[in-house]
Amino acid sequence: MHRLTNRRILLGITGGIAAYKSAELTRQLKTAGADVRVVMTPAATEFITPLTLQALSGNPVHLQLLDSDAEAGMGHIELAKWADLILIAPASADFIARLAAGMGDDLLTTLCLASDAPICLAPAMNQAMWRDARTQQNLASLKQSIDIRVFGPGSGAQACGDTGMGRMLEPAELALLCAEQFETLALSGRTVFITAGPTREALDPVRYISNHSSGKMGYALAAAARDAGARVRLISGPVSLPVPERVECVHVESAEQMLAAALDGLETCDLFIAAAAVVDYRPVAVAEHKIKKGADEIMELRLTKTPDIVATVASSPQRPFTVGFAAETRDVLAYARDKLARKKLDLIVANDVSAAGIGFNSDDNAVTLIGADVSDTLPKTSKQQLARQLINRIAEHFHEQTDTSGQDS
Ligand code: C5P
Repeated sequence: MHRLTNRRILLGITGGIAAYKSAELTRQLKTAGADVRVVMTPAATEFITPLTLQALSGNPVHLQLLDSDAEAGMGHIELAKWADLILIAPASADFIARLAAGMGDDLLTTLCLASDAPICLAPAMNQAMWRDARTQQNLASLKQSIDIRVFGPGSGAQACGDTGMGRMLEPAELALLCAEQFETLALSGRTVFITAGPTREALDPVRYISNHSSGKMGYALAAAARDAGARVRLISGPVSLPVPERVECVHVESAEQMLAAALDGLETCDLFIAAAAVVDYRPVAVAEHKIKKGADEIMELRLTKTPDIVATVASSPQRPFTVGFAAETRDVLAYARDKLARKKLDLIVANDVSAAGIGFNSDDNAVTLIGADVSDTLPKTSKQQLARQLINRIAEHFHEQTDTSGQDS
């Protein structure tokens, strides 16, 4: 199970005998690929030591709200924003009551108040406490007011000798339920390769041919694909942008290097998006030393075509669903349709780079997504917003195609 790859799970442990199972739960979440940070209430530390959870999660355990050392590291607001999902396991009756009352009297309740992430509760308590009208009332009011999911509890023999409802679900079940929370994302579990930025084709050790691509669109697409649940490899030419968190980035310079990075592991790639502005021609030969200025007024360069990366990917035996970009200054849609057919793409994003304020180097963009039976205009907006819209549309067409070809599992 690798459906939790790259997911950030904040595991809250409250006071209860089932806390001993949270060690195994941490291990299972880590095995499924999640990044786990553990928060313990003071009562939880009576049942299991923070050191055990620190060793298993590979991260320091967070214990107190007003701890200046911890706040200097990852403060409570940062931790609340970090989480993709908060899992409280075990969730005691007392914790559920404090959560329902909207209290922020310790680190864990405060994090729940401060986070937008969905909260999952794995209740664990004595069967009478579970049946108690106040516990049930607290859960009902939580379900009404916030995005909360309740896993279990199960029924059976209890540590106190009673039998009935109130046992925490087993760690493997809880890990699976967490993974399911992410399955509704448009690209859950898929691998996406994205090329971005310009390439640089060397003339000599100090000069090169390149273009004005900023890489902003490709980087925004990488972040949007990651947020849609994908494992993302960004293959980037030289740009001055920070790599989005939780995105693997392969830095390249030339078209040849970009092609090599695209073909490396292509069999694992489900969706290939070519947003790079690849230089079309490179010098036939790269001079070993800096080319000196001569007496001639004119200097001629001999150029040769660079490999067409997206066309090579689209014609490869392990062909992923392939999307290209067409940056044009005139007859935008006609040229885009021609490239769609010639490069054997599934979709192409047509981009009018002659219009002021969109396209190359700007923060906004407006595009038309074109496919054999698709023509979808996305009006001008920020590249981040447009990237999210594009990823959603592309994911829809990707699923339509994989569903009809019976490849989807
Ligand atoms: O032919 P043109 O450069 O206009 O095609 C644009 C599309 O093809 C873009 O998706 C671009 O990333 C891709 N491309 C490529 N390798 C090239 C040239 C373009 O992948 N050598």
